[in-house]
Amino acid sequence: MRIRFALNGEPCEVEAPPTRTLLDWLREERGLTGTKEGCNEGDCGACTVMVTDEAGARALNACILFLPQLEGRAVRTVEGISAPDGQMHPVQRAMVAEHGSQCGFCTPGFVVSMAVGHLNGRTDWDDVLAGNLCRCTGYAPIVRAAEAAAEEPAPDWMRDVPPEARSATSVAEGGAPDAPGGYADTGGDWGHTAPMAATGASREGDPGEASEAVRPESADALAAWYVENPDAVLVAGATDVGLWVTKSLRDIGSVAFLGGCADLKRVERTAETIRFGAMVSMTDVLAVLRETHPSYAAMVRRYGSEQVRNAATIGGNIANGSPIGDNPPALIALGATLHLRRGDERREMRLEDFFLDYGRQDRRPGEFVEAVSLPASAPAFRVYKLSKRFDQDISAVCGAFNLAVENGTVTAARIAFGGMAGIPKRAAAVEAALTGRPWTEDTVTAALPAFAEDFAPMSDMRASAAYRLEAAGNMLRRYFADMSGQATDVREITA
Ligand SMILES: Cc1cc2nc3c(=O)[nH]c(=O)nc-3n(C[C@H](O)[C@H](O)[C@H](O)COP(=O)(O)OP(=O)(O)OC[C@H]3O[C@@H](n4cnc5c(N)ncnc54)[C@H](O)[C@@H]3O)c2cc1C
Ligand code: FES
Ligand code: FES
Repeated sequence: MRIRFALNGEPCEVEAPPTRTLLDWLREERGLTGTKEGCNEGDCGACTVMVTDEAGARALNACILFLPQLEGRAVRTVEGISAPDGQMHPVQRAMVAEHGSQCGFCTPGFVVSMAVGHLNGRTDWDDVLAGNLCRCTGYAPIVRAAEAAAEEPAPDWMRDVPPEARSATSVAEGGAPDAPGGYADTGGDWGHTAPMAATGASREGDPGEASEAVRPESADALAAWYVENPDAVLVAGATDVGLWVTKSLRDIGSVAFLGGCADLKRVERTAETIRFGAMVSMTDVLAVLRETHPSYAAMVRRYGSEQVRNAATIGGNIANGSPIGDNPPALIALGATLHLRRGDERREMRLEDFFLDYGRQDRRPGEFVEAVSLPASAPAFRVYKLSKRFDQDISAVCGAFNLAVENGTVTAARIAFGGMAGIPKRAAAVEAALTGRPWTEDTVTAALPAFAEDFAPMSDMRASAAYRLEAAGNMLRRYFADMSGQATDVREITA
């Protein structure tokens, strides 16, 4: 597959197997070994690179980023964080001055994350750096370095202009792309006027590679292609699919990269509803939720890390059908509607009806998730994520609550959990035990045994079945305390 992007300020055109990761390509074919491989599954941040497109600059994990996802974007590795003449970036100088590095293995990843945060004017370093792990230095000197560099202006060389934006302008003016900045001499068509940007075959028979790949440029183009190729794998942010390749070494067959479907990246808001297109990243979901649903936003702030949220999409998190995905319980408790599309046919359903059984969803061959919509406001909605580690960890249990209380009586209840069954699931018996009763601590206590009617959770490395059941009940107690105005955040409570 032919892919065009900018690398450390230089145009770059690559013929590559579609599921070649950026990390492997940088290290093995470009000799850019500053970008490190730690976990190769998105967890440690050693492979962090900066990727810029029309939405701005973001940190991403190169180990689970396929080359076609870079089409029309600009990539900057740690080698491009210092100036072309070797002058150090302010965060690099600060890392030296503050003794922010010992063995140095994590340092390139930290430097890139810090440089992206610095460029974007961020100062919330605990969030910016939560996806970068260091085994030896300790985080205090690293955060001190980030703070020390914050006052210095962002260097000019960090302001990448994605090639897509340049070529789009020249095409709109008519004629062939004039590709300013030297892009014309790559010999390719930068205009992307065809509905499918690229189709090609890679080597056959190698594990972890795709046999055919396309990059549709709209939901219409995707719909037309997918209905004819229903066995293909759709790649959104690749935070799940990436691991099928890097960890399971799966041959994933035909692939459609959805990154070119700008219409699936839309957020549409009315007074009553928010509609997220399937390709809206969790970073962009978080930005909206911070205004509208603070409890949901606080949970998403702990969803993966900065790098994972920058890649992961809300559609991928629903479509993967995971019983421990964090959006589904929240969305089910909010009464969200799922919008599906197959060819020109569209249908919608309550999100809870989408999840049929473990690994099985109500999605027909050739049908894809187009969007999800939810109420624009829900003051009584709360969601609690329980994980072994506060940041960058998958939930053991995720509980979401949305009750209507009138004149002291519960008139409606929507309660949903992740991590308690083979699918994200409503707690129907608990809801029934609360509805029509006075909203009191006694009612909550009386409803607790109903959790065992709703759920028979499993034991695994994250939690035992008994712990999960008890934690779910405690979340209902927490919800009652929360709605009564008591402090319930673990960071607010002192013994
Ligand atoms: C380090 C790390 C941390 C993580 N932390 C969390 C966490 O805290 N909480 C959590 O819930 N998840 C977490 N995840 C899991 C993952 O990030 C999410 O499930 C993510 O939302 C998947 O979205 P994606 O866009 O990356 O999907 P992809 O990997 O691209 O796709 C996932 C699946 O959905 C399908 N798909 C994608 N888009 C569509 C569509 N529009 N229509 C139909 N099918 C589609 C794909 O074919 C594939 O089967 C983590 C993953 C990693 C690697
Ligand atoms: S190597 Fe660990 S996140 Fe990529
Ligand atoms: S300096 Fe050794 S892992 Fe961070």
